Amino acid sequence: MLKKPSLGGARVLITGGARGIGAATAALLASHGARVWIGDVDEDACLHTAAQLGVTGGRLDVTSAASWRDMLEHIESDAGGPLDVLVNNAGVMPLGAFEAETEPVRDLILDVNVRGVLNGMQAVLPGMAQRGRGHVVNVASMAGMIPVPGMVTYNASKFAALGASLSARREYAGTGVAVSAVLPSAVRTELTAGAPLGGGMPTVDPEDVAAAILAVLRTRAARRSVPRWVAPAWSTTAFVPERLQSLARRLLDDRRALTSIDTAARKTYLDRVDRQARAHRGEAPS
Ligand SMILES: NC(=O)c1ccc[n+]([C@@H]2O[C@H](COP(=O)([O-])OP(=O)(O)OC[C@H]3O[C@@H](n4cnc5c(N)ncnc54)[C@H](O)[C@@H]3O)[C@@H](O)[C@H]2O)c1
Repeated sequence: MLKKPSLGGARVLITGGARGIGAATAALLASHGARVWIGDVDEDACLHTAAQLGVTGGRLDVTSAASWRDMLEHIESDAGGPLDVLVNNAGVMPLGAFEAETEPVRDLILDVNVRGVLNGMQAVLPGMAQRGRGHVVNVASMAGMIPVPGMVTYNASKFAALGASLSARREYAGTGVAVSAVLPSAVRTELTAGAPLGGGMPTVDPEDVAAAILAVLRTRAARRSVPRWVAPAWSTTAFVPERLQSLARRLLDDRRALTSIDTAARKTYLDRVDRQARAHRGEAPS
């Protein structure tokens, strides 16, 4: 059984907490005694989830530095002190052929998955370093290590998120502040609805990722994949010639994100991301 980290009373903010991995993490950390805030660009869903979980919810658009300032000021006055833990979890994953990707969708992926993580780290790390304690956990992805056809921009964003995480960890080493990355494989959430899961990549539940985040808060490890073995196993492929890697990938049909998307099952997710991309670009909803 996992030893409980000392989360009792810790002030924790989880971004993208309205659903999926963020909501599962909020539930788990709250059950371990943390005081949890969830922030999400989907305010209605966030407030609904917060009420269900008995945590506090509010609107946060991670792409906006001003939105971060508002959220952190609100938490500090509400909680009577600054954040102890930030879980940078908000993310979007439109899939498909690179040449068909529109500019608004590309901007959204990069702004949420990369700029959002950078904004969050910059908003909290200086204060944490001054106080000599704190922990930022960035939810990257195994797509931050494994290139997948149909995920060019998503891959770029998650490689960037992992790089930023490892770099910030070094920059803040010795301050008492830890930065960690959690790298889930495929997870059963709305984000993967209609996407071809499997193909050599293990599939887990949001609760498995939440458990890994809890474990990382205890160990302060630099990175941890979910399942745990998958990142170390992938790292060994660096020693396999590309010809053999290509053969294995053909056998596993690694082009499935291009060829096997269930568009009907994916529609609700893509409609949500499309609405978000328009709002992000300042366009009126259609
Ligand atoms: N589901 C997977 O297979 C998988 C695998 C690896 C990594 N991840 C990563 O895990 C994280 C959570 O994914 P999920 O599967 O729970 O997805 P999800 O779509 O179920 O939940 C993501 C949440 O993030 C919110 N969000 C999006 N943009 C935001 C913004 N600008 N500001 C604030 N909130 C925003 C959404 O509204 C949503 O509630 C993402 O970073 C994702 O890339 C997911």
